[in-house]
Amino acid sequence: MASKTPVEETIVILDFGSQYTQLIARRVRECGVFSCLARYDASEADIRALRPKGIILSGGPASVYDENAPRLPDYVECLGIPVLGICYGMQLMAYHWGGRVESAEYREYGLSQIELEVCNPLFRSLPPTMPVWMSHGDKVTALPPGFLALAHTPNSPIAVMGNLERGFYGLQFHPEVAHTPRGVDIVRNFLYEVCGCTGKWKPASFVQETIAAIRAQVGEGHAICALSGGVDSAVAATLVHRAIGDQLTCVFVNHGLLRANEAEQILALASDHLNLRVRYVDATDRFLGALRGITDPEEKRRIIGREFIRVFESEARSLGGVRFLVQGTLYPDVIESSGARTQMAALIKTHHNVGGLPPDMELELIEPLRWLFKDEVRAVGKELGLPDELLHRQPFPGPGLAVRIIGEITPERLDTLRRADAIVCQEVAAAGLAQDVWQYFAVLTPVKSVGVMGDARSYGNLVAVRAVTSADGMTADWARLPYDLLGRIANRIVNEVPGVNRVVYDISSKPPSTIEWE
Ligand code: XMP
Repeated sequence: MASKTPVEETIVILDFGSQYTQLIARRVRECGVFSCLARYDASEADIRALRPKGIILSGGPASVYDENAPRLPDYVECLGIPVLGICYGMQLMAYHWGGRVESAEYREYGLSQIELEVCNPLFRSLPPTMPVWMSHGDKVTALPPGFLALAHTPNSPIAVMGNLERGFYGLQFHPEVAHTPRGVDIVRNFLYEVCGCTGKWKPASFVQETIAAIRAQVGEGHAICALSGGVDSAVAATLVHRAIGDQLTCVFVNHGLLRANEAEQILALASDHLNLRVRYVDATDRFLGALRGITDPEEKRRIIGREFIRVFESEARSLGGVRFLVQGTLYPDVIESSGARTQMAALIKTHHNVGGLPPDMELELIEPLRWLFKDEVRAVGKELGLPDELLHRQPFPGPGLAVRIIGEITPERLDTLRRADAIVCQEVAAAGLAQDVWQYFAVLTPVKSVGVMGDARSYGNLVAVRAVTSADGMTADWARLPYDLLGRIANRIVNEVPGVNRVVYDISSKPPSTIEWE
């Protein structure tokens, strides 16, 4: 499973497939303790190697009675550390440790109210009743030996159970979601009151350790870094630069799928603010050539991933003596793409910085951010002194405009999209909303529709505008942009972008949609 984590004090979250597992990891970190996810069937040796201070068992979609239901590993009980089971995690504790689980007559979704019966460290300083968020079919109907019922709801006589001596707790509800307003306090109590954590984790503390680790990994070697202009690669490059100085060369590949003026902006930022040595490679023809005629979204991503690495490899060869490739891969990318999830977790999209690496790659990877969430990367960037202008750039996907052109990518269609996208960016910025909206961009659809321009009939392209609010890109809602702003954007696009005669606004949330269209 895991490579060595960057800190001493770790909480391991065994993932039984809940959609909220990452959220649990986030909450633990927000409380100042490092957390990492492990598959529910990770080996005992792997888990022990992390020397966890406590284990959290996530929820999951299964019922303990399903034939192929994920089981609770035997070693969990014997590690001698506290365990917190959430929803399915609680049911597993009851089922495997001698209690009983039954399917509830009524499935319980949404808000409920718990009432505490027994004072206990998990609920220290919390009120005796509080709203909690439920989402379960089965429930615990008999306690395992050594456990007490600590709280109930109108529908669940055992909504919280605990073996106070051993620090084992089970919650029928989800403390990690925002709908459980005091949930984070429960998580904090588990960490500090039950596990005895000291709370040393801050993204900033990660900087020194990571720099030392990179130095040890690279030694006298040479590395190149894939600079994309986004926050992640800029922070990764700066960290590595702090570690090995001029043994790092950054390579900025213009794949021809960038937004208007983006290459110039990125180069200026890298040299003026980051003091990085950057090689600029214009590989537009190579990428557009490889993408000619391709319309399948996953195929586009694969091609871009492959070409990226090939370009780096050839740059590395021309530099000579380069052994390492630095990438700004984040923890959610690792979780989603590497199969760290236990679930049937359908691969949703292949993020090229992980999923698309060719198996025969010649360079060894350095991924200094692979344990961090996005907001933690920004905190590290701030610690490293990166300018706000860079830290708050909207995320831009590695495959660039390729995933915003539905259908074939041609120079003409790229030009259309760039012009439309520039208008969206200018208008959102002019309205002072750039910091409030997570991402805002244009998408070129393959749809053509009839319009009337002047006195003539037109038959032109349909551009979609997408703007979303989000905390981390995992879930998102469409941004309620003011109608006037939307009107200005639409008006300018049809007037200023040749070949476009209609603009629509995307009002879907993620899930079920995704942020990007491909
Ligand atoms: P989706 O479309 O999956 O996007 O809701 C979530 C976030 O990830 C970005 N994204 C990517 N980033 N390579 C990247 O580096 C990719 O292939 C990729 N696809 C999506 C997207 O812009 C959003 O911020």
